[in-house]
Amino acid sequence: MKTVIIGTGSFAPPRIVTNDDLAEVMDTSDEWIRTRTGIEQRHISDGPGTTWMAAEAAKLALKDAGVEPEDIDIIIAATTTADNCFPSAACEVQGILGAGNAVGYDVSAACSGFIFALHTMDGLMKTGAYETGLVIGVDNLSKVVDWSDRSTCVLFGDGAGAAVVRACKDGDRGLLWGRIGSDGRKASVLTCQARTMGNLLTGTKPEPGYIAMEGQEVFKFAVKKVPECVESLLKDAGTDMGDVKYLVLHQANYRICESIAKRLKISMDKIPMNIDRYGNTSGATIPILLDELNRQGKLHKGDRVVLAGFGAGLTWGALLIEW
Ligand code: UT7
Repeated sequence: MKTVIIGTGSFAPPRIVTNDDLAEVMDTSDEWIRTRTGIEQRHISDGPGTTWMAAEAAKLALKDAGVEPEDIDIIIAATTTADNCFPSAACEVQGILGAGNAVGYDVSAACSGFIFALHTMDGLMKTGAYETGLVIGVDNLSKVVDWSDRSTCVLFGDGAGAAVVRACKDGDRGLLWGRIGSDGRKASVLTCQARTMGNLLTGTKPEPGYIAMEGQEVFKFAVKKVPECVESLLKDAGTDMGDVKYLVLHQANYRICESIAKRLKISMDKIPMNIDRYGNTSGATIPILLDELNRQGKLHKGDRVVLAGFGAGLTWGALLIEW
């Protein structure tokens, strides 16, 4: 049995904020952001958040797959910025779609979230319990960045991507191999503390939590761990980068992607990029990029693609797919 992606969709809020827009309200410049990260603009939600973006991406993915909401058996949403502590983003999307026959829940693995969710979905599909699934990567990071911290706030944007998958008994296509990892010993280099809840007994007042990051530590971790992970994935799968058409990487920084390409000894032609237009949308970067490749007709039956991500946790992971 293989888990096959049969449709993709993506969505970002219409409001675009350029680097020059940011330079008007903080001490930064288009030149600094562009040369250090490759980002030129990002989409920022000025109202509705995670559930809205996730549902819009999901509707497009269902349309692409030709699947009706009532045919979905399971929805897994990867997010660290759900609109609520509960219900989950997945349950809210289920409600909006009217996917009455599905079960829905969220997974939390930050920027590696879509990889973790798709890997989890694959494991569940292999049990035979589910036939059609919806995997969503979505984040609304603009609501948790500290807009007074220029070293982090310029990096992130809002967005969602989704994939409809089906358990296929025959054929060689689908998810071939997966590998995920985490190292909680290094958790402190990238954090977003939960909102401090008010406490009746201590009199503590509620306070918001913001993203805090040691950028260079995350950079070093990513350029070491991702190539290691991709290499061991391909070795286990009995193949190598020569057989892979695209390495769809988490979009955190153009320079990170360049360093990963160098370590894997591959050309940047194999690494599609859209960070210039979206910034880092966390759990959404990989499914948005995958959807763009799909819609541009760049993925053909039999193409091998590796999806690879990294992020807070620290977490990382890679999946080998035959399209
Ligand atoms: O999804 C995973 C999440 N995160 C990441 O992947 C991030 C990984 N890290 C990075 O991408 C990079 O480390 C950053 C883009 C965050 C920073 O780039 P850097 O080359 O490591 O810069 P830096 O932190 O060493 O800062 C260099 C200078 C500093 O000034 P001084 O001390 O040299 O005078 C910063 O204060 O750049 C300054 N700076 C800025 N200047 C203008 C920091 N942020 C900005 C800014 N605009 N927005």
